Amino acid sequence: MTLSIKVEEYGISPKGEAVQLFTLTNAQGASASITNFGANLVTLYTPDNKGQFADIVLGYDSLEDYFTNVPYLGATIGRVGNRIGNGQCEIAGKTYTFVQNNGTNHLHGGLEGFDKKVWRAETFKTESSVGIHLDLLSEDGDQGYPGNLQVRTTYELHNDNQLTCEYSATTDKTTILNMTNHSYFNLDMANQTDILSHELQLKSNQVTLLDQNQLPTGEVMNVAGTAFDFTEPKAIGQDIFADDAQLNIGGGYDINYIITDQSSQLRVAAIVTEAKTGRRLTVKTTEPCIQLYTANFLDGSLKGKGRAFEKHSAFCLEPQHVPDAPNKPMFKSIELKPGETYSSKMSFAFDTV
Ligand code: BGC
Repeated sequence: MTLSIKVEEYGISPKGEAVQLFTLTNAQGASASITNFGANLVTLYTPDNKGQFADIVLGYDSLEDYFTNVPYLGATIGRVGNRIGNGQCEIAGKTYTFVQNNGTNHLHGGLEGFDKKVWRAETFKTESSVGIHLDLLSEDGDQGYPGNLQVRTTYELHNDNQLTCEYSATTDKTTILNMTNHSYFNLDMANQTDILSHELQLKSNQVTLLDQNQLPTGEVMNVAGTAFDFTEPKAIGQDIFADDAQLNIGGGYDINYIITDQSSQLRVAAIVTEAKTGRRLTVKTTEPCIQLYTANFLDGSLKGKGRAFEKHSAFCLEPQHVPDAPNKPMFKSIELKPGETYSSKMSFAFDTV
């Protein structure tokens, strides 16, 4: 096997732009396909402990399905991932309002977030990886956000079965930015309709508590002794149905963990292991937090890759800042000012046990 990149025509966007699907394959035969419509990750094939490759992310069968993609399968999220309460916040002393696309909240960048835009794509190859740069100009006022934002997403599939995803951005007016990747993983998607037996470990002792609108209250809770404790590996399903007020809000895990190591180094945030296939996913990030979401709002009505997307059929681990940070000054700011460069990196590494 050698490193390769395949480019296919994928269809036409609602605005009439030609869209491609790029498949990156590494020297071990692992592959990731990405479309420049939304910089969405469409497939991810990794080996199990017998060397059999299988796709381990939920996704659709055609480009058109990504035009709506209500659950944000595989999506590159921006400008601001997660929720902004009442779709409103102050930026540089001025109040801005954003579309309320989740009850009264603004969610995942609005109705035409980064996952609904056509990005300019350029592939590249190194001695040990294949990758794709995706570039986008999000104009001043886009979805209500100030500033012309020049943003780049780079996916790179390495020969050691690591998929990295890196973001960088600059602006000409103070704005807010909190990007993330919204892939839904199921490490045994071919055989298991839920991820409840997957074992998860999180490098976090604390979550940000939620109100009934799924917004952080501003309080932090220690996870020790609660259903949210994943400091040691634990089956995702072990406590998911516990009668817990915080679990009930999201219908399962849908909460932001504060990573214990608050440095902005690329460090391990989560490890997920699936016993039958032996697949292990290690998630690293430079972000301060990671959202654990167990696909609680999937209800079987959407389909793709020969299956209906059922509740708990996948998990998302979304590196990010604390949700609603612009309205919660006790948490790290997500402001980006002219002259600064936003940068964020994550790594999804695959091996077997
Ligand atoms: C959020 C969920 C939401 C899902 C799909 C996750 O990041 O935490 O509450 O339903 O995205 O939009």
